[in-house]
Amino acid sequence: MSPHVIALRVQTILSAVTSIDEVDVIGGYANVHFNRTAFADSLFAKKKETITNQGTVSIDMSSPNIAKPFSMGHLRSTIIGESIARLYEQQGYTVIRINHIGDWGTQFGKLIAAYKQWGVKEEVEKAPIQELLKLYVRFHKEGDEAEGRRWFYELEQGNEEALSLWKWFKSVSLSSFQGIYTTLGVTFDSYDGESFYNDKMQAVIEKLEHHHLLEQSEGAQVVSLNQEHLPPCLIKKSDGATLYATRDLAAALYRKQMYQFTRSLYVVGNEQTLHFKQLKAVIRKLGYGWSEKMEHINFGMMRLEGKKMSTRKGSVVYLDDVLSEATALAEQYMQEKNPSLPNRKEVASQVGVGAIIFNDLKNDRRNDIDFSLEDTLRFEGETGPYVQYTHVRTYSLVHGQTFMWQNGQSVEDEAWECFVTLSKLEETIVRALNSHDPSIVARYVLSLSQAFNRYYSQTHILKDDDQLQNRLSLVDAINVALKQCLHLLVIEAPKKM
Ligand code: ARG
Repeated sequence: MSPHVIALRVQTILSAVTSIDEVDVIGGYANVHFNRTAFADSLFAKKKETITNQGTVSIDMSSPNIAKPFSMGHLRSTIIGESIARLYEQQGYTVIRINHIGDWGTQFGKLIAAYKQWGVKEEVEKAPIQELLKLYVRFHKEGDEAEGRRWFYELEQGNEEALSLWKWFKSVSLSSFQGIYTTLGVTFDSYDGESFYNDKMQAVIEKLEHHHLLEQSEGAQVVSLNQEHLPPCLIKKSDGATLYATRDLAAALYRKQMYQFTRSLYVVGNEQTLHFKQLKAVIRKLGYGWSEKMEHINFGMMRLEGKKMSTRKGSVVYLDDVLSEATALAEQYMQEKNPSLPNRKEVASQVGVGAIIFNDLKNDRRNDIDFSLEDTLRFEGETGPYVQYTHVRTYSLVHGQTFMWQNGQSVEDEAWECFVTLSKLEETIVRALNSHDPSIVARYVLSLSQAFNRYYSQTHILKDDDQLQNRLSLVDAINVALKQCLHLLVIEAPKKM
């Protein structure tokens, strides 16, 4: 069709919409004239429908490794996963949040060996992660590899001493991670980590054998993925040890059976893309159609002031420190801006942590991002505090009261952008969910904040005239939308700051 014919078609369709006054066509263009009053009235006439029973989604998220620092990658996984979880819940799905803790593997043999040689109980109790990491690093320099292997063998055989040390490492690590989860406001439905699948792998290996999928390769057992143009998936090493992939296979089957998921997501960094391709391919080869419902939600790296965070080089930045530094800085700002704020510590944490989360989620998750504390915490620009502050502003105008929208009133020019932006809330959430991309919500909430702040600077909202109820209704709707978006972004919305 020619552009002109298309424009005429658009004219026919849009002319039937009540909130559109007229559509005039000039060549290949269609100019749409809104009836602002009807547009605003229809926005406020809409009833919110609650959707339920959309099925179950399991989300593998966070999943740190015990005895190792909680990395920026794990932080990204936690908040991207949590945001996607909230998007699903909002659209009527049941969500199972799974923390697939890295708690098995040969490294724990090394750690046990190192602890037996150099460990001090009190030191580990005082600062578990730092101390266990030190032992691990020292083992790599001075330890006896064979001792490490021997202790892992003991662990796998169920040796009591080995098991009780491993359990202890696990419990001190988990309670240290718990502090981070509490700060972030994230909880999990399952902490079944890698070790949980120890007794579930044999069945998987038998299934693979049954389907004639296992091949010998240099003494190891692999599933060849030639047809898929992927390297073979390693299932069992020549010494009989199972691997990360073997445990993930068992986990995938277990989750399907246990949760009957309609979708199974894995929020894990870009660097594991190949692993998840292989995992999916092996499940497909086992004849399970639901492999199509498995999706790797990948993301890029977060660099701290330009530096990559790494455990091996020992240049470790502890996430706890970053979070408390952000909180301290936020508190300092608040002391300057609002010295009489009563619950300053609590709000400072909400603002400091919210700033870090927003800075993460506003970017397309697949990109690497740079992180600077100062930039993140600015109250102007595209930041978490800016959105939180806008929410505070709207709240201070409406205080959670309800107002009666009056139909038929004219819409002020300054308010129009707010109505238009508000009207896009629902489609924005759906779009963010469909592409598993919280940055769509973050971008939206920024544009809503900007629209409101422009309106606010041009209008005397509380002026007592016949439009007052409608202005307050609008501010209230914006307040609710800001709060909802902040929630979807795993950010608190304080009422004062
Ligand atoms: N523990 C792994 C790591 O830190 C992430 C685990 C992701 N989940 C999974 N099912 N493989 O790299």
